Amino acid sequence: MYRAEYRLDQSRAPFLEGLRQYSIDKIIPFHTPGHKQGRSLDPGLQSALGKLPFLLDVSDEIASQAHGNDSEKVLREAEALAADAFGAKTTFFLHNGTTAGIQAMLLAARQWAGSRLSVEKRFMEDAGEVLVPRSVHRSVLGGLILAGLAPRFISDTWDAEWSIPLPPPPEAWQAAAANSQSLAAYFDTYPNYYGIAGHLDEIAVLAADGDKLLLVDEAHGAHFRFHPNLPPTALSLGADASAQSAHKVLGVLTQASMLHINNEELAVLMPQILGILQSTSPSFLLYASLDAGRRQMAQDGKRLWQRALELSSTARERINRIPGLQCLGEEILKKPQVKFWDPTKLLIRVDGLGLSGSDAEIRLRAKGIQVELAGLNHILALIAIGDGPEEVGALVKALKELAREQSGLRRGSPARLSQLPRPGEMILSPRRAVLSSRREIDLAAAEGEIAAADVLPYPPGIPVLVPGEKITAESIDFLQECRRKGIEIRGWADTSKETIWVVDID
Ligand SMILES: Cc1ncc(COP(=O)(O)O)c(C=O)c1O
Repeated sequence: MYRAEYRLDQSRAPFLEGLRQYSIDKIIPFHTPGHKQGRSLDPGLQSALGKLPFLLDVSDEIASQAHGNDSEKVLREAEALAADAFGAKTTFFLHNGTTAGIQAMLLAARQWAGSRLSVEKRFMEDAGEVLVPRSVHRSVLGGLILAGLAPRFISDTWDAEWSIPLPPPPEAWQAAAANSQSLAAYFDTYPNYYGIAGHLDEIAVLAADGDKLLLVDEAHGAHFRFHPNLPPTALSLGADASAQSAHKVLGVLTQASMLHINNEELAVLMPQILGILQSTSPSFLLYASLDAGRRQMAQDGKRLWQRALELSSTARERINRIPGLQCLGEEILKKPQVKFWDPTKLLIRVDGLGLSGSDAEIRLRAKGIQVELAGLNHILALIAIGDGPEEVGALVKALKELAREQSGLRRGSPARLSQLPRPGEMILSPRRAVLSSRREIDLAAAEGEIAAADVLPYPPGIPVLVPGEKITAESIDFLQECRRKGIEIRGWADTSKETIWVVDID
């Protein structure tokens, strides 16, 4: 929960300060990276970025006095400050996004669960199951494949009004846990892309009662700690670990994320696992931005998020007054599956204008506005600490224009909204499916085959086809409808031919 006082001196940003000092010291770099602090750059790159970022883009050869000649030690200091600010026992900076954090949590879960198994079982291909809602981000599948853990999917419910999946209720988790013979961990997404979250507190109790880990993809919740009117953090609700894409909502560079841990056994396993997963040449710019973003939040987060919350509330009211548009509000909390909601996400239905999400995205782009994502009947606009009344005013103005342009036109009958396809039967574990021989096939002809790769609309990045699942006609219909509505699909075997990979069973 929100807490204003910290244990450590949050006015410091040791990583950022050390890095600046290195550039001030004017050390002549006989070390990587090869651009030598921007001395040799393609002119186009230099005019696009300027020299400054290159001055600070040094590798771990860094040896400024301010870094105590030991950047590793300064990194640990910066991570300790982040743990204090984000309410974790231990925090690791990530330079490969939350994707790396999710993979690391699942690899750690495999080790954690394996250490409780007999030696023969410990080395089996799939050493346990992870309970996970079906609408996970693709990085979770990647983590399961790497870790050799099998998913036990829990179905989400599809909200037909908004065309989005809602989190499964605690009873569904309980039933799935009761059916699993080899449960290794609970894995939840909190919140989802649209800022909507289920009953993580109850799921934490289920996991703790069963002596299982609770791991959380909190990619969209790095700001939660810093304002009481945002949802509580996953750790405060009982998660053992959570990965947050600081880059998605805070003032930090893309790819910079954090892994927060409240379980000592997991914390001990992490340095080795992260060393396996991530580059040995982390970008110090990413680390410095995490250090500074943490300081900004600890010192000024409440004020900044207060402003963002006020802006979102005003934007929501104004959008809801535009004929044909509807912006999701706190009424979502009345749905039994939903317990928490982040008001800074503006989920806007556009089908009342006779448009699909992609139509609206393209039309808004022509008016100088780029939204975060387009769904079947909606667009999603994010409000964060970098926005002000001017930006929000421009969004509302563009939406009004769009509504006006549409009002004279005959609106087609509301599009038939696809349901979230029911997942096909899981025939193979994702790991086995990915490792199997494969063949390429037209999506349209794939009914009854077993998927060998994930196929998904992106964003939000939730796989419709999961490796190992039997492909159903419903899934094919859903993907085809996404295509018709102009939504980008990833995971094709050949994008130009719209073919997919399936398991070759001979
Ligand atoms: C729900 C969710 N989880 C995980 C990720 C992966 O995060 P990152 O891009 O920081 O690797 C994303 C990215 O969009 C996401 O939306």
